[in-house]
Amino acid sequence: MSRELNGKVAIITGSSRGIGQAIALELASKGACIVLNGRDEKRLEETEALIRQHHDRVISVCCDVSVKEGGLMLVERAIEAFHQIDILVNNVGVSMRGTVAEVHPDVFKTVFESNVLGTVNPTIPALPYLRKTKGSVVFISSLAGIRGLPFLSAYGASKMALRGIAESIRIEEAKHDVHVGLIYVAMTEIVHNKEAIGADGSMVILDSRKSRNVQSIDSVAKAVLRNIQRRKFISTLTRLGKLNAFLQSRFPSLVERIILMNIHKFEEGSK
Ligand SMILES: NC(=O)c1ccc[n+]([C@@H]2O[C@H](COP(=O)([O-])OP(=O)(O)OC[C@H]3O[C@@H](n4cnc5c(N)ncnc54)[C@H](OP(=O)(O)O)[C@@H]3O)[C@@H](O)[C@H]2O)c1
Repeated sequence: MSRELNGKVAIITGSSRGIGQAIALELASKGACIVLNGRDEKRLEETEALIRQHHDRVISVCCDVSVKEGGLMLVERAIEAFHQIDILVNNVGVSMRGTVAEVHPDVFKTVFESNVLGTVNPTIPALPYLRKTKGSVVFISSLAGIRGLPFLSAYGASKMALRGIAESIRIEEAKHDVHVGLIYVAMTEIVHNKEAIGADGSMVILDSRKSRNVQSIDSVAKAVLRNIQRRKFISTLTRLGKLNAFLQSRFPSLVERIILMNIHKFEEGSK
C-alpha cells in the first residue's frame, strides 16, 4: 500500500468515541473511506455526522466485535460498501481495576473477550482482503502491555497477548506484504464517561482526565497515522513510554523498584 491515504478504506473498531473516533476523524481528514464501529447506534450517528464534515464516504456498523459474528459482519459490510479493505485498526479495548487477589475471575474473561477476541474476530476475516491491498492491520495496545502493572493485571495481560498475535501475523503475512503496527499508547485524556470494569465485574465510570501529564486523543490519532504511513512495526508513545520500554528491556528489576516506590500513584490512578 502506498503512503497516500486518500481513497483507502479503513475499518476502525470502537470508533464511536474516544481514541477510535479521533483515529477515524484523522483518517477521514486525509481522504480515507471510513467504516465506523461501536455498539451504540446514537453514538455512531453522532460520529458519522462528524466524518461527513470531511466527506460522505462513511458507513457505520453497529455490532459487538467481541463475538465472532460481529467481527465477520464488520468486514462483510465494509466490503459491500467499498469493495476493498486497506486498513484495519483494532482499537476496541476495556480496562479494569483491582488486585489479582480481589478481582472476580469473570473480570479476566470479560477483558480478554473484548481486548483479545475483539481484535482477532475482525482480523481473521479481514486478512484475505488486506493481502490484496498490501494493507495495514494495527493493534492499539498500552504501556500496560510492556510490563505487568499493579491493579491492571487482566488489562496488561490482554495487551501483552496482542504483541504475540501481531508478531505471528508479521511473519505469516510477510510474503503478502501486509503491514502490522503495534501502538503502545500512554495514559490519555478522558473526555467522556469512559467505563472500566471494577473488581466485582460491574462497570465503573472513570473520572475525566485532562491535564498536562496525559496525552491528548488527537496526538494518539496522529501517531497511529504516522505508524501506518511509515509502515512501522512498534510505535511507543510519549517520552516516558519510550523510557519505560527501554528500561524494561535492559533493567527490569530497576523498573519494578521504581513502581514499588510509586505504588501509591498507581493505587490513586486505579480509583
Ligand atoms: N484512554 C487511555 O488512557 C488509553 C491508554 C492506553 C491504551 N488505550 C487503548 O486505546 C483503545 C481505546 O481506548 P479509549 O480510551 O478511547 O476507550 P473508550 O473511550 O472506552 O472507547 C471505546 C470505544 O469502543 C467501543 N466498544 C467498546 N467495546 C466494543 C465492542 N465489544 N464492540 C464494538 N465496539 C466496542 C465503544 O463504543 P460502545 O461502548 O458504544 O460500543 C467506544 O466507541 C483501547 O484499546 C484502550 O485499551 C487507552
